[in-house]
Amino acid sequence: MKAIVIDQFVSDLASLKPREASIPQPKGPKDLHVRITHAAVTHVDTLYAQGLHQNNHRHVQPPFILGNEFAGIVTSSPASSPFRPGTRVFGGGLGSYAESICVDEGSVRRVPGRWSNAEACAVGASGAVSWGSLISVANLQQGETALILGASGGLGVMAVQIAKAIGARAITVVGDEEKAEMMRNLGADGVVDYHASNWEDEVKALTEDGEGVHVVYDAIGAIESGLKCLRYRGRLVIVGFAARGGKIEEVRANRILLKSITVHGYRFGEDGRRLPERTKEAWDGFMGLVEAGRIKPVIYKEQYQGLGEICRALEDLQMHKTWGRAILRINEGMEVDIETEAEQKARL
Ligand SMILES: NC(=O)c1ccc[n+]([C@@H]2O[C@H](COP(=O)([O-])OP(=O)(O)OC[C@H]3O[C@@H](n4cnc5c(N)ncnc54)[C@H](OP(=O)(O)O)[C@@H]3O)[C@@H](O)[C@H]2O)c1
Repeated sequence: MKAIVIDQFVSDLASLKPREASIPQPKGPKDLHVRITHAAVTHVDTLYAQGLHQNNHRHVQPPFILGNEFAGIVTSSPASSPFRPGTRVFGGGLGSYAESICVDEGSVRRVPGRWSNAEACAVGASGAVSWGSLISVANLQQGETALILGASGGLGVMAVQIAKAIGARAITVVGDEEKAEMMRNLGADGVVDYHASNWEDEVKALTEDGEGVHVVYDAIGAIESGLKCLRYRGRLVIVGFAARGGKIEEVRANRILLKSITVHGYRFGEDGRRLPERTKEAWDGFMGLVEAGRIKPVIYKEQYQGLGEICRALEDLQMHKTWGRAILRINEGMEVDIETEAEQKARL
């Protein structure tokens, strides 16, 4: 099969090219073989390719196939698996920039009947990551206000919708008017441009009493700014560092004490390795919102056809052109809609 293989970390993403690679083989008793139809283009991929992600110290070392989120069709599965061959699935797994992948059944979910594989791919594991961050970890409640930093990104568009779906208010911070418009379409209660020098004050002014937000969801690494935006006894969850370019900020800890703030970190992949029940809870919580029709996939408008377009897609991501998820179309057109058991019973 063809894949984007990292034989050694690269310094220039433009050097990535598809090449022949062995078809991945099952490693665990619950592994599924999936033909990939679509792969998501993510910030994590840019880091993995260059060896700049924390996972590159231990878990992700060359040689490996790049890519972390996908949608596809199960081609083989253990006899006990709930995912029969032909089932459309989506989720997370290292090696998605390839024609096929082997993943544990716990890291994928069935594609809802009303979604295409491209739409499911745009959601990938990001919905579960954002649900885990906002709900399990930061304990966002109905009636509270959440600030979403990195709102226009793949994780952020999920976080905004999750906050709204549970009856919280969502204030979002974005980089341009096209992204601001998208936020309003997703139901954001307030939108602030991060280029404004006093954007933190603008955020506070959008809260009901001017005291600040209850929860900050930080996918960009702006913790000092997040602390400024929080009210007394607020909670901040650190999700990612998309704005830091690898340089992590130092935080004045007195700001945490002065407002009795709670700061959490959340590492979805590590939770999956150490506390799989917590990860399952995040997936189940998120899928509950999907089934209730509360989540809309957000696909970036540009088309990227085939693994050969990976450089252009990653470059667009790095140039801040993309919003939602950019999608690489790999075996598009091979997807077949299979009937769910319930549909089959209804037909009989
Ligand atoms: N905790 C976990 O388990 C976990 C799991 C997956 C990913 N992550 C991390 O989460 C982060 C977000 O991932 P993603 O896939 O959503 O990335 P993404 O799709 O590339 O989105 C990045 C977001 O960051 C914003 N951004 C970039 N530079 C900025 C700046 N200087 N100031 C303000 N905003 C800026 C972008 O907005 P503009 O385009 O407008 O600049 C965009 O909204 C990444 O750091 C990723 O590594 C964490």
